[in-house]
Amino acid sequence: MAVRDIVRLGHPALRSTSEPVPRDEIADSELQELIDDLLETVRDAEGVGLAAPQVGVAQQLFVYESAADPAELEGSPSAPETSTLEVIINPLVEPVSEDLEFDWEGCLSIPELRGLVPRHPEVRLWGLDRHGNEVEKILSGFTARVVQHEYDHLHGVIYLDRMRDLRSLAYEDELDDLMDAEEDERPAVG
Ligand code: NI
Repeated sequence: MAVRDIVRLGHPALRSTSEPVPRDEIADSELQELIDDLLETVRDAEGVGLAAPQVGVAQQLFVYESAADPAELEGSPSAPETSTLEVIINPLVEPVSEDLEFDWEGCLSIPELRGLVPRHPEVRLWGLDRHGNEVEKILSGFTARVVQHEYDHLHGVIYLDRMRDLRSLAYEDELDDLMDAEEDERPAVG
């Protein structure tokens, strides 16, 4: 396993649509190594999600923080004791309803900035796990936000594109000063 370099805004991988992973290639050592590296890289960067294009690989997979009870994750995105990293390959994400909630978001490929982004509070996630087994689950709250952010990365979309008002865009340091941010107010960064 190795920590890979995370590409930043301007790298074409962040603006490209990724290719699905052929099902018979999931067990290949190259793909399994990529998954291990994504897991190690997101932990190293203290993020809560990371998509393959963010390490320059145009394939449809990402890792994200999850928890048995999504409420446990709310507000403590990097607490390993309450969360686990999940892997999803060739995902499809669809909203359960048209509802939208605004919350702060950041991106490991756009360091230091945060913005208010509307996301669906509940989504259905389909895809394959690292063993090629089919996965279908309903995710809500913080985890749903992370998954929507990472799913966007597979389609060349970044959170800035989703913002309704760029006036909320801010450096994390300035926001911390402004909001006297507590640990439990940390935004989703992926
Ligand atoms: Ni991101």
